[in-house]
Amino acid sequence: MIPFAHYEQSAAYLREKLGGFQPDILLILGSGLGDFGERVEAPISVPYAEIPHFRYSTVPGHKGRFVFGSLAGKKVAVMQGRLHLYEGWSPEEAVYGVRVMKLLGVSTMIVTNAGGAINLDYKPGQIMLISDHILLFPVTPLTGPNEERFGTRFPDMSKAYSPALRQLARQTAADCGVHLNEGVYMYFPGPQFETPAEIRAARALGADAAGMSTVPEVIAARHCGMEVLGFSLATNMAAGILDQPLTHREVMEIGAASKAVFSKLMLEILRKL
Ligand code: HPA
Repeated sequence: MIPFAHYEQSAAYLREKLGGFQPDILLILGSGLGDFGERVEAPISVPYAEIPHFRYSTVPGHKGRFVFGSLAGKKVAVMQGRLHLYEGWSPEEAVYGVRVMKLLGVSTMIVTNAGGAINLDYKPGQIMLISDHILLFPVTPLTGPNEERFGTRFPDMSKAYSPALRQLARQTAADCGVHLNEGVYMYFPGPQFETPAEIRAARALGADAAGMSTVPEVIAARHCGMEVLGFSLATNMAAGILDQPLTHREVMEIGAASKAVFSKLMLEILRKL
């Protein structure tokens, strides 16, 4: 178990760097969407590698740093690059940044990811508002002794994705003419893409999108009392739907192509928060 003192030391280092700036909203950006961090005004960038006890990411397309500053009038911390379990991090390590942000005073987390569309009505390039998730793998960050200073042993997940924030997201998407699907995100550990049989199973279970991130962070955020809003960008139809192989390149290309729409939606949501 990571000692609570490590989180405190990481937070203390950042507090010193931030000189009085205190973020309210944490944004974690997925594959291809990391550029959104470049829009932060009066940015203070801190590479993960510089922060005591912090682990950092290795995936192409992920920068591995925090950008603190102002976006649409809100005080934000942007994580450019997240830690995935397939890189070898434990679930506890993968959510380290979320917990450090809690200690800095963050109360809301907005997460984005790239995912495969399981729902046959979805199309690549469309954004899905995450209404709920399915986690069938034993990879929760809450395994082990419970850290009461973050939250309770058995946290409620019945409204993991804030109904109020989802309503705001729906309204904002409608106002700015962005098509928004809404559905269930199912976690797969990766790094291999799913098999067609796994995707059929996921659909039968009620999943609309598949992806390799987000759920550990959401569990940690809910455990420590943050409000959560999540989006999944469909970068491809999930395995077996089309007769073609899945590639990371496709994920990055659709991510890049959808950046403008995604940024517009996110900025409008931030403005209304
Ligand atoms: N499956 C899992 N993760 C993904 C996918 C997918 O099809 N596309 C982008 N991330």
